[in-house]
Amino acid sequence: MKNQSRKEFLQQSAMAGAALLLSSLEAVAFTENKKIKIGIVGCGSVSGQYLPHLSKSAHVELVSVCDIVLERAKNRAKEFNVPHVYEHIYQQLAGAPFDLLVNLTDMQEHGRLNKMALASGKHVWSEKPMANTYKEGKALLDMAREKKLRIWGAPAVVNSPQFAFMSKAIQEGKLGKVSAAHAHYGHEGPHWSAFFYEKGGGSLPDLGVYNLATLTGLLGPAKSVIAMTTIVTPERTVDNKGKIQVEAEDNAMIIMEHEGGVLSHVQSGFNYFDPYGHGGKGQDRHTISIWGTKGNMGLVGYDWAPFGVDLATMDSPTPVRHVPDPKTYVWQEGATVISKSLLDKNEPLISPEHALHVLDIIESARASSQTGQKISLQSSFRWPIV
Ligand SMILES: NC(=O)c1ccc[n+]([C@@H]2O[C@H](COP(=O)([O-])OP(=O)(O)OC[C@H]3O[C@@H](n4cnc5c(N)ncnc54)[C@H](O)[C@@H]3O)[C@@H](O)[C@H]2O)c1
Repeated sequence: MKNQSRKEFLQQSAMAGAALLLSSLEAVAFTENKKIKIGIVGCGSVSGQYLPHLSKSAHVELVSVCDIVLERAKNRAKEFNVPHVYEHIYQQLAGAPFDLLVNLTDMQEHGRLNKMALASGKHVWSEKPMANTYKEGKALLDMAREKKLRIWGAPAVVNSPQFAFMSKAIQEGKLGKVSAAHAHYGHEGPHWSAFFYEKGGGSLPDLGVYNLATLTGLLGPAKSVIAMTTIVTPERTVDNKGKIQVEAEDNAMIIMEHEGGVLSHVQSGFNYFDPYGHGGKGQDRHTISIWGTKGNMGLVGYDWAPFGVDLATMDSPTPVRHVPDPKTYVWQEGATVISKSLLDKNEPLISPEHALHVLDIIESARASSQTGQKISLQSSFRWPIV
C-alpha cells in the first residue's frame, strides 16, 4: 500500500468530512426558513456581549431567554426585546418553539444542558467547553449526527482575518519549514462567579482554549501533549459566593507536538497582570509567535481580539505589519455566524471536531500534569482550516 503522510490523510479526511457535513446541513430542518429562531440559556456576563451582536443580525430571531436567576433573564428580555422568559431550561425547551439553543451558562452545566437541547430537537451553539469531558462531548456530537442536528462550540478565533492571513502564510510556505510556536493569554481572573475556580472550571477551558484553538488551527492537530498545571492563588473572593477555595488550575503550560516535528507552547492563567487590561488593546507585543526556517510572524493583540500580524522572511527581513484591521470579526460572533451557515447551508470554518480536539488537549494536559507523562492524542479535525 502506498505510504500516506499524516497531512495527506488529514486533507483527505477533511474533504470526506466536509462532504458528510454538507449533506447533514442539507438535511437539517427549521421551524421557518427565513431566520434562525434562538433561545438563550444563561443571562450572565457573556450574554451582555452576545445579545447586542445577535439582536443586530438579520439572520436570527431572539425567541426566549432563560436563567435560574430569573431576574437576570427578565432584565435581558427587557433590554433586548425578547418575548419569552423562563427560569428553567425544561420550560424553555417545551415553551415557545426555536431552532438553536445558545448556551451561555457555567462551564460545568454545558454538557448536561446541550444534551437536553439535542434531545428535544434543537441545534446547539455552546460557549466553551462544549462538554466537561472529551468523552461527553463526543457523545453529544454522535447524538447530534444521529438526530440530524448540529452542535458547535466556542471559540470562533479561526474566523478572524488575522488567522486567515497566518494560515495562508504557513500553507504557502512563506515561513519555510515551520518548527515552533508560542502563545499566551491571561488576566487576573473573573471576580463575578465561583464556577471558574471550581472543579470543571479552570483557566484552560476559560482562557487557554483560545490559544489552543489558534495553534492547532494553524499547525494542525496535536499528536501528543506534555504539561504542568498549578494553583497559584488557592483562595479567592467572588461576587456570588464570597470566599472560596480554588479547585481548578489557575496556571498552566502545555507543549504540543504536531505533525513533522513541530512543537508549540501555550501558557495561560488567572494570575497575569496585563498593563493593557483584559482585551490587551493598544499593546504592540505579540501574544502568538510562529517560527520557521525562512521566516517568522507574530500576532499583535490577543487571538480573540487581534490587531495585526507582523511578518518577516529571509527575502524581506524587515518585519511588515499586515491586516491591522479585524474588519467585522468579533470574538462573540460564533452563534451569529453559524446561524447564517445553517440558513445558507454552507459549512462554517468553526468545526465541532476542532472544539472537541481542544477539549481533548485540555484533559490530556491535566492528566500529563498529574502523572508526569506525555499523553498521546487520538482525536483530530479537518485541517487545514484556511
Ligand atoms: N464573561 C465573559 O466575558 C466571557 C467571555 C467569553 C466566554 N465566556 C464563557 O461564557 C460562559 C458563561 O460565563 P459568564 O462570565 O457569562 O458567567 P456568569 O456567571 O456571569 O453567567 C452564567 C449564567 O448562567 C446561569 N446559569 C447557570 N446554570 C444555569 C442553568 N442550569 N440554567 C439556566 N441558567 C443557568 C447563571 O445563573 C448565570 O446567570 C462560560 O463558559 C465562560 O467561559 C465568558
